[in-house]
Amino acid sequence: MRQLIAGNWKMNGLSEEAAAIVGPLRRGADGLACDLLVCPPFTQIFTVAHILVGSPVAVGGQDCHPNEKGAHTGDISAAMLRDAGASWVILGHSERRQDHHETDALIQAKTHAAVAAGLAPIVCVGETAAQRVAGDQNKVVGGQLAGSLPPGFSGVVAYEPVWAIGTGKTATEADVAAMHLFIRETLVMQLGQAGEGVRILYGGSVRPANAGSLLAVPHVGGALVGGASLKAEEFLGIAKAAKA
Ligand code: PGA
Repeated sequence: MRQLIAGNWKMNGLSEEAAAIVGPLRRGADGLACDLLVCPPFTQIFTVAHILVGSPVAVGGQDCHPNEKGAHTGDISAAMLRDAGASWVILGHSERRQDHHETDALIQAKTHAAVAAGLAPIVCVGETAAQRVAGDQNKVVGGQLAGSLPPGFSGVVAYEPVWAIGTGKTATEADVAAMHLFIRETLVMQLGQAGEGVRILYGGSVRPANAGSLLAVPHVGGALVGGASLKAEEFLGIAKAAKA
C-alpha cells in the first residue's frame, strides 16, 4: 500500500499562509510515490479544498464531534467537515487528549461518527516521556488502541510518542520498529485479517532529513507531520522520501 504523508497544521494558518502552503503543494504533488494529505484548521478547510480541486492532495480536519448535529456550541460535526471539502479527519491527537481531556471512549465515538459520515479517520496513540521511562509504552498504546478503535475499524493509526511532538526529538529507528510491530500485532488481534492492511503512521518531529530512515522502518505506513507541514518545501521533501 502507498505510504500516507499527512500534514497537521494545528492552530496555524490564516488565509494568506494557507494559500502559500497549498499552492506549491498542488504544483509539486504530481508523480509522488505516496498519498498526500493536509489538515488545516476548520476555518481554512473550504478554501484549501477549493485550491486543491483536481489535485491528488486530500484535505482533512483535525477533530470532529461524536454527534451528527445539535446543541453543541462551537463544535464541528463530521458531516460539516465533509461538506467543507474534507475526506479525512485526525482524531485523538495527544494535544486534544491533553488540552480537552479526551478519553479513549470519546475518541472511539468520534471515530464511529467520522466513518458514518464518510470520512477516513486517523486515530492517534502514543505514550508520554514518563510512561516510556517506566517501560509502560506498550501497555499505554495497547490500552489506547483497545479503547479508541471501534469494532471493525477501518482507517489509519498514527503512533506519536508525546515526547517527540514538536520537540525535535524523534524516536530511534529501533524504538519505532518495536512499537510499529507491537501495533501491527495488536491490530491483527483486534481486527483479524483487516488489521494487516491498516496503515500505521509515525509522527513526532519528522523532517526531510530524518524522513527517509523513519519511512524505511517495517510497518511504517507513512508520517503525520506537524511543524514541517507548514512549509511546502519541507513537506514535499518528506513526501519525496516516502517508499513507492
Ligand atoms: P511535529 O508534530 O511534527 O511538529 O512534531 C507532529 C504532530 O503533532 O502530529
